[in-house]
Amino acid sequence: MRIMVIAFSCKVAFGSRNKMPWAAQRRRPDAKPTISQFLPHAASDKGAAVTLDSTTEPRTQELRTDGDTPMPPVFDDAFRHSLSELFRWRRDVRRFRSDRVDMQVIAELIELATLAPSVGHSQPWRFVIVEDSARRKAIIDNFNTCNAAALANYDGAEAALYAKLKLAGLCEAPVHLAVFCDSSTADGRGLGRMTMPETLVFSVIGSLQNLMLAARARGLGAGWISILEPREVATILEIPAEWRFVAYLCIGRPEEEHLDPELERHGWQARLPQSTVLHRR
Ligand SMILES: Cc1cc2nc3c(=O)[nH]c(=O)nc-3n(C[C@H](O)[C@H](O)[C@H](O)COP(=O)(O)O)c2cc1C
Repeated sequence: MRIMVIAFSCKVAFGSRNKMPWAAQRRRPDAKPTISQFLPHAASDKGAAVTLDSTTEPRTQELRTDGDTPMPPVFDDAFRHSLSELFRWRRDVRRFRSDRVDMQVIAELIELATLAPSVGHSQPWRFVIVEDSARRKAIIDNFNTCNAAALANYDGAEAALYAKLKLAGLCEAPVHLAVFCDSSTADGRGLGRMTMPETLVFSVIGSLQNLMLAARARGLGAGWISILEPREVATILEIPAEWRFVAYLCIGRPEEEHLDPELERHGWQARLPQSTVLHRR
C-alpha cells in the first residue's frame, strides 16, 4: 500500500529540527527545499499529465531583487481585477475530467498552501496524498455510508433534492488529498492559542483556501469533502492519533466551469445578502 505524507514539519519528516538536511542553507531563499522533493517522480507518469504553464516556474525566479534583497511585486489594477475574477470563478468541484495531474503541480499547490498565516507561525497543516487504490476505495465506501446516513436526516422534497445532489467526485478525481491538523505540534510554542486552541485548525483551513485558489488559477478544481467519519479516515490512512482530520480534497481538471455554486444551481442554498453577513456595532 502506498501513502504519501507531506508533513512539512521537521519533527515528522526528519525526527528533529537539528536533523533538517537543509538547515545550514536556510537563510538563502533559493536553497529552500521544495515540497516536490518529497514526491516520487513516478507519480506523474500515469496517463496524460496536465501540462505546467509558465506560472509554475519556481517563485524565486519571479522575484525582483535589489542586490540580495527581494523587492515586493507591484499589484496593479489589472492584477486586482484578475484576482477578483479568480475569487469569483473558484468553485467547489465535484465533476472532474479523468486527465492525470502532474504531481509537480500538486507539490506547488501544497507549497503555496503552506504560505498561509498560522497561529504563532505553528504551520500545523499536514497533507496526505492518497494514491493507494484500496485506501481510496475505503474512503469512497465511507463517503457512501456517511452520505446515506446524512440523507436519512431529511424528509420529503428536501430528501429528494438531497439525493440528487452530487456531493463528491471521489471516483473521478485523479488526485485525493487528505488534510490534517497536528494538534500536538510544539511549533509556534503555543503563541496565540492559549484561549483559543481551535486556532490551530483555523490555520489549516486558511491554507486550504490558498490551495483551492492556486488550483483554480492553474485550471484545476478542488472539491472539499466533509461527509466522512474522521476516525475512519484516520484508520484508513494510518494517521497519527494527534492529527485531527480537517478536509478530504479531490483535485483535477473540472468538467465544467460556473460562476454559481453547484448548491445554488440545484436549488439547495442561495447566496446570502450582505445584510445577513455584514454587521455594525
Ligand atoms: C468545511 C467545508 C466542507 C464542505 N464539505 C462538502 C462536502 O462534503 N461535499 C460537497 O459537495 N461540498 C462540500 N463543501 C463545498 C461547499 O458545498 C461549497 O463550498 C459551497 O456550496 C459553495 O460553493 P462554491 O465553493 O463553489 O462557492 C464543503 C465546503 C467547506 C468549506
